Amino acid sequence: MFHSKITGLGFYVPDNVVTNEDLSQLMDTNDEWIQERTGIQERRHVIRGEDTTTTMGVKAAKIAIERANIDKDEIDFIIFATLSPDYYFPGPGVLVQRDLGLKTVGALDIRNQCSGFVYALSIADQYIKTGMYKNILIIGSELHSHGLDMTTRGRGVSVIFGDGAGAAIISRETDLSKGILSTHLHSEGQHAEELALIAPGMGKRWVTDIIHENDPNDESYFPYMNGQFVFKNAVVRFTEVINEGLQANQLEVADINMLIPHQANLRIAQFIQQKFRLTDDQVYNNIMKYGNTTAASIPIALTEAWEQGKIKEGDLVVLAAFGSGFTWGSAIIRW
Ligand SMILES: CC(C)(COP(=O)(O)OP(=O)(O)OC[C@H]1O[C@@H](n2cnc3c(N)ncnc32)[C@H](O)[C@@H]1OP(=O)(O)O)[C@@H](O)C(=O)NCCC(=O)NCCS
Repeated sequence: MFHSKITGLGFYVPDNVVTNEDLSQLMDTNDEWIQERTGIQERRHVIRGEDTTTTMGVKAAKIAIERANIDKDEIDFIIFATLSPDYYFPGPGVLVQRDLGLKTVGALDIRNQCSGFVYALSIADQYIKTGMYKNILIIGSELHSHGLDMTTRGRGVSVIFGDGAGAAIISRETDLSKGILSTHLHSEGQHAEELALIAPGMGKRWVTDIIHENDPNDESYFPYMNGQFVFKNAVVRFTEVINEGLQANQLEVADINMLIPHQANLRIAQFIQQKFRLTDDQVYNNIMKYGNTTAASIPIALTEAWEQGKIKEGDLVVLAAFGSGFTWGSAIIRW
């Protein structure tokens, strides 16, 4: 039996900065409304043709591989988390295998939206623990901007989300006091439609329905979010799953050196911080700069925190996520 640890981290965001003021040129919104409710000041949007979900993921992965100090041929498996894949199928995992020129290793695509990175980490952890693989590349990447309703109709959703990618190399650790101590995953499909993109899908609206009806007012292929309901559930589930992780390892809130919450909304992160009475040094947020990048948000924030020297060897790092599904999860890591 082994443990797994994060040995390399990287992130990539497009250069194109979109401020709240820029959005107010496209829809009826304003900087004050967005900042007051979400804390977001700006986000990045891909300029069409310059990047895809996969190419952003590959750029983040190259940095993570270099920092892990391994050759790309030592990667045994790829896990890619996104809700905004380049193609309906195949998923981006195989595109990463191709673009990075990796050996014909397995490539797994997972969904799980905002919890995607924690789910990916948990899967990687199981493969490493059992000894099946030594090094796994995991990527969370999202290109939201081209799929959002950038009119006043979509403003409750479109101001929140941004584009970007984060990646990590998860490797074998023989010291069982270090690395990923545990992961905790949950779902509650009862609320699937409260934060969802319904079409095109094989359930309610087929591609052929959309083409046939050709309705310019069709909203079904834009994401829908019941914001207040999501907010209320998020604060409860974040709290539960952080507590679950701490209890599973006989740890206390005071043991946390760094909490990286999924960057859903700064108000949610602040609520969690207050609830657990954590200091500003114990929580890392960057939603102000990047918006909510869904599966990419935790690896981007984790990479930035690490780059800024805020995570040191021996630290207890807690990752926690909540999002569409609903799905939620946490990871307890001894760095
Ligand atoms: C989305 C969210 C910011 C909306 O804030 P809210 O206070 O709940 O706002 P409401 O949806 O009740 O809308 C309040 C008003 O602002 C308006 N509004 C919505 N989006 C707006 C925008 N971007 N700019 C200006 N006004 C906006 C609404 O139309 C509504 O107007 P009305 O009162 O005239 O009907 C908030 O619910 C939220 O953060 N939820 C959690 C979302 C989240 O974290 N998602 C990711 C999960 S992974």
